[in-house]
Amino acid sequence: MRLHAFPDALGIAGRLARSLRRPCRPIDLHRFPDGESLVRVDHRPGADAVLVRSLDDPNARLVEVVLAADALRRAGARRVVLVAPYLAYMRQDAVFAPGQPISQRAIGALLGGSVDAVLTVEAHLHRVRRLAEVFPVPARSVPAAPAIARWLRGHAPGAIVVGPDEESEPWVRAIAAAAGVPFVVGRKRRRGDRDVRVQLPTGARGAHAVIVDDIASSGRTIAEAAVGLRRAGFARVDAVVVHAILARGAIASLREAGVRRLVSCDTIPHPSNAIPVAGLLAPLLRALPPGAGWTRGGGS
Ligand code: R5P
Repeated sequence: MRLHAFPDALGIAGRLARSLRRPCRPIDLHRFPDGESLVRVDHRPGADAVLVRSLDDPNARLVEVVLAADALRRAGARRVVLVAPYLAYMRQDAVFAPGQPISQRAIGALLGGSVDAVLTVEAHLHRVRRLAEVFPVPARSVPAAPAIARWLRGHAPGAIVVGPDEESEPWVRAIAAAAGVPFVVGRKRRRGDRDVRVQLPTGARGAHAVIVDDIASSGRTIAEAAVGLRRAGFARVDAVVVHAILARGAIASLREAGVRRLVSCDTIPHPSNAIPVAGLLAPLLRALPPGAGWTRGGGS
């Protein structure tokens, strides 16, 4: 097996390669003046290829992943496995208004037509609950909840865990149970990209709250929850997210809302990264499909 890392994924790909004791090669990436991309890979014919890239800022990255998968096959890869610690377009999992696509399914078909398997961390699976419904190839989403619970046990033992929306209830409940702390879940209404309202239950009382969410994009969801918690009397509000997308202005909004510390998994490189995921991904790569845990479309 040989790992191949895009320039934006060298950190996590290196950690994964060390954990697997396999070589990792950087992918040469050229962007032409017209915006097209050219990739170049260095592969050993007959070996499995593991393509590593998170799909935040996804549009050009998706195309480049498809090009790299083609290059790897031409270079003789036995199988091409995409490791996308963050998978984009998972939130549009239904037609919410007439005329919209199901982006999740369209992107699943695009990637599934290029690679032989997909591995990710904590995919946004809410209405669609299994990656089997997203990808036509074997796919696994590794849960980040146990790693987040471990972090909470070590860093916030007396806190209350707060989920900002009802969708996240089972996830937040599992994290709180594993961390041995109480939890509450708010109700979220989104009226626009950066226009979010979060209503917290009246039972949210205490001194230290930790908001947990899978994604922080504009940061508005966490910021709104933090404002509510500060109003409810919490002296300290922190936040833990899996995927720190943190679009422009997000960090300022979190700071203004009174979030003291933001911690994230290292699925997307960011100074808040404190929870490594390479150790969660490595065992599944050691057992590539059809190995243990890799039933077709299996897993969560
Ligand atoms: C939504 O379903 C997700 O779980 C996150 O709450 C959401 O993506 C956060 O987005 P933003 O940071 O833009 O409020």
